[in-house]
Amino acid sequence: MESIQSKKTNLFKQVNKLLGGKKTIAVICNQWGDTGKGKFVDFFGAWADIIARGTGGANAGHTIRLGNKEHIFHLIPSGILYDAKGKINIIGSGVAFDPAVVEHEISLLKVAKCSFKNLRISKDAHLVLPQHLLMDRVKENKAGSGKIGTTGRGIGPVYEDHYARIGLTVNDLLNPKDFEKKLLKNLQDKIVLLGQYDKQVIKQIMQHEHLGSGRFYDEKNIFNIKKIVKEYARYGKLFKNNIIDTDTFLRKALGKKKILLEGAQGNLLSIDHGTYPFVTASDCTIAGLSKGVGLRENDVEMTLGIIKAPYMTRVGGGAFPTEFGGTQSAEWCGTSGVTRKTEKEKFGNLSLDQSDEFKLGVAVRMAGFEYGATTGRPRRTGWLDLPFLRYSIQFSSKDVIFTKIDVMDSCKEIKICVAYEYTGPKYNVGNLVLNKGTRLNMAIPEKEVLKYCKPIYKTFPGWLTSIRNLRNIEELPQKLKNIISFIEKEVGVKTRIISVGPDRDETIIIAK
Ligand code: GDP
Ligand code: IMO
Ligand code: MG
Repeated sequence: MESIQSKKTNLFKQVNKLLGGKKTIAVICNQWGDTGKGKFVDFFGAWADIIARGTGGANAGHTIRLGNKEHIFHLIPSGILYDAKGKINIIGSGVAFDPAVVEHEISLLKVAKCSFKNLRISKDAHLVLPQHLLMDRVKENKAGSGKIGTTGRGIGPVYEDHYARIGLTVNDLLNPKDFEKKLLKNLQDKIVLLGQYDKQVIKQIMQHEHLGSGRFYDEKNIFNIKKIVKEYARYGKLFKNNIIDTDTFLRKALGKKKILLEGAQGNLLSIDHGTYPFVTASDCTIAGLSKGVGLRENDVEMTLGIIKAPYMTRVGGGAFPTEFGGTQSAEWCGTSGVTRKTEKEKFGNLSLDQSDEFKLGVAVRMAGFEYGATTGRPRRTGWLDLPFLRYSIQFSSKDVIFTKIDVMDSCKEIKICVAYEYTGPKYNVGNLVLNKGTRLNMAIPEKEVLKYCKPIYKTFPGWLTSIRNLRNIEELPQKLKNIISFIEKEVGVKTRIISVGPDRDETIIIAK
């Protein structure tokens, strides 16, 4: 029998072959997030010297599973489990930095006896402050059916302040006097704006543990400036030794050290290229990621874009043409209080053999543990959508990783959306005119178009065998290989890795 050591050496050889001497690589997502970035950043963490996040904030939830232990990181890069080996993890300048979240994640690492001494935080990252969490939540609270379904982590308001040129940065934590001046300026317009929201709602949100459990609340002025300044000065002291100019650090390391960039969210959630307005507030593509760590896009020698297949997921609002059970599913998943536990109680153990599409969606969600790593919300599920994949690939690369395939091991029939039929009224998109019946091979990420896009499916027989123990591409069932080849050909991608389970070693590398 092959020893664990020789298995590891073999995997390492395959990784080196796949990367072919490249020094800077990135892992991003080609869909709406939650595709397994955490797993693969941890996986390549064994190879890298430096691991860096450059986009998003604590809206991200990246899971690493090692045996029966699960680690979920929101802000600390997923390479942190290699800290004790001297690897450097960086929270880059493009990240929305919430010190309270990082303090909490550090405490979890301490409990798990994991080291974090090489964690570096960019002095230029913008700060998430109580007002950002409050603004995010009051707005969503009032938005009714038009709500985006944000994670409530203050992400939108932080990037708004960044562009309004009134944001505070990590460096301000080190200079409490400047922090206070900037804080007062930052709050000026917000206090006026908050006047139009229900006082009781504001008070209730301010009591939430994410906003200091009421410590930062002031009955008269909403914010207790003194307490905020004091708490953030404490963070300044706490993180003093971690804060550096990470952009310059990374530029100096370029070509010398092995650098791994960790994407957050996914291309379809990008503020610039996603399904606007149902997107996050940073650019989740490789362009946004490299910029968010102070590098240029062409500094990245290999971008690995993840595809969850043959089903996919989305959390929060926005169009999802291939969603199992359509609006019924969207509404159900948007209902507060729906969790894995309540779904289990209501539906019991559902097999993947459901003729009812809505129930199939629930079954896939339960089989794939598709509940938000950040909010616990049920993730909406649906068939793989090639029009969206063709669109997304334009912002990443041809090199892809397939994840979660094993979830569909017992599904008798697999459907893949190959194109859409537009069923709406005449609509202009730039110089393109859509009419009822127009066929679209490439998704147009526009709300008014997507709501009329009816998926056209191609059906494949399921492979009906467990793939979790397979470690070689040759061993995969032919029916699955046919599906993968079909996707590769239709979208124009090259499969580099196939993930057959959540664990580090449940991975097949195709290093040809
Ligand atoms: P991320 O946000 O892209 O890092 O993904 P999440 O961590 O939010 O969600 C992905 C989930 O799928 C996590 O629970 C992972 O442990 C799990 N996962 C990753 N790859 C696979 C896979 O190939 N098969 C299965 N069954 N689970 C996987
Ligand atoms: P990871 O990195 C999935 C979604 C939210 C919402 C929209 C805007 O784990 O893949 P925000 O709080 O960012 O203003 O919410 O974006 N969203 C994610 N969905 N995975 C994520 O991150 C997400 N981060 C944000 O659900 O629809
Ligand atoms: Mg996630």
